[in-house]
Amino acid sequence: MAIKSVGVIGCGLMGGGIAQVSSQAGFPTIVIEANQELLDRGLAAIKKNLDGLVAKARLDQKARDEALSRLTGSTRLEELKACDVVVEAITENQPLKNETFARLDAICPPGALLATNTSSCNVTAMAAATRRPGQVLGLHFFNPVPLMKLVEVVQTILTTEATVKTAWEWVQALGKTPVRTKDSTAFIVNRLLVPYLLDAVRLYESGLASREDIDTAMKLGCGHPMGPLTLLDLVGLDTAMYVAEVMFEEFREPRYAPPPLLKRMVIAGRLGRKSGRGFFDYSGGTA
Ligand code: 3HC
Repeated sequence: MAIKSVGVIGCGLMGGGIAQVSSQAGFPTIVIEANQELLDRGLAAIKKNLDGLVAKARLDQKARDEALSRLTGSTRLEELKACDVVVEAITENQPLKNETFARLDAICPPGALLATNTSSCNVTAMAAATRRPGQVLGLHFFNPVPLMKLVEVVQTILTTEATVKTAWEWVQALGKTPVRTKDSTAFIVNRLLVPYLLDAVRLYESGLASREDIDTAMKLGCGHPMGPLTLLDLVGLDTAMYVAEVMFEEFREPRYAPPPLLKRMVIAGRLGRKSGRGFFDYSGGTA
């Protein structure tokens, strides 16, 4: 089966990015949000991104117009009834995701694939909430979605090879590179990345070095595009903490436990770029 039409649930940072790359790659794409205000905000962000690409001559006006004409939005999950694949990108909440998958199962055509962009929830539990567990998998995109080339294709013990093949080919059609991983909390990237980010917070908390020097050290010493504290601000401290908590719960290893400072910054609302301040201050637009 080849994917012809796409649904995305959630038009935030990740869902909006997935909807954008899908419509840019030529797929009629419908994106669902919980209410009209969130939908309008998400669609406006996609339009702004595409306009930014046109302004930088990375995209021509015609391609921008065509991408937008392929993109529609709705607040009704029922609008996904004709999609060949649906990618869920709602908040990281296992019961809510299981419930969403059960609803999707009732709405979508029998052949449709149901995918989750989760970085830490249990994909097998979402599959088990449907009557088509063989057609459920994880498709884990990275932030910022339009720029990051990787998608982790997550296979549960129930996912069929045919599902993986169809999803793999769709990911390639989006211009991304797929890698295959099993459904085990945090998959490949976050399993390696999260302990590193948590260690950076512990290092800062210990007073070993300044924020700036920790980030400069990893940028210039290891050739990373951004330092770990800047990357935490990009990912969102609440998201990073949630992923760490789920990893700690799953593996019971102290290295996955969120450090005290991270918890306190989340409680204080210092979530990173999205709240205007995390380890660095973004109130002026840039760090
Ligand atoms: N969205 C869209 N475009 C962006 C962007 C964003 N958030 N941030 C930067 N850009 C664009 C800039 O406009 C610029 O475009 P131009 O070349 O056309 O002018 C280009 O990217 C380069 O930007 P900068 O020069 O400002 O900065 P960098 O060279 O550092 O590149 C970056 C930005 C690509 C984000 C790079 O820093 C990077 O790769 N950082 C690491 C990101 C990363 O590790 N992401 C994974 C996070 S983990 C995750 O998502 C998993 C989750 O489950 C937790």
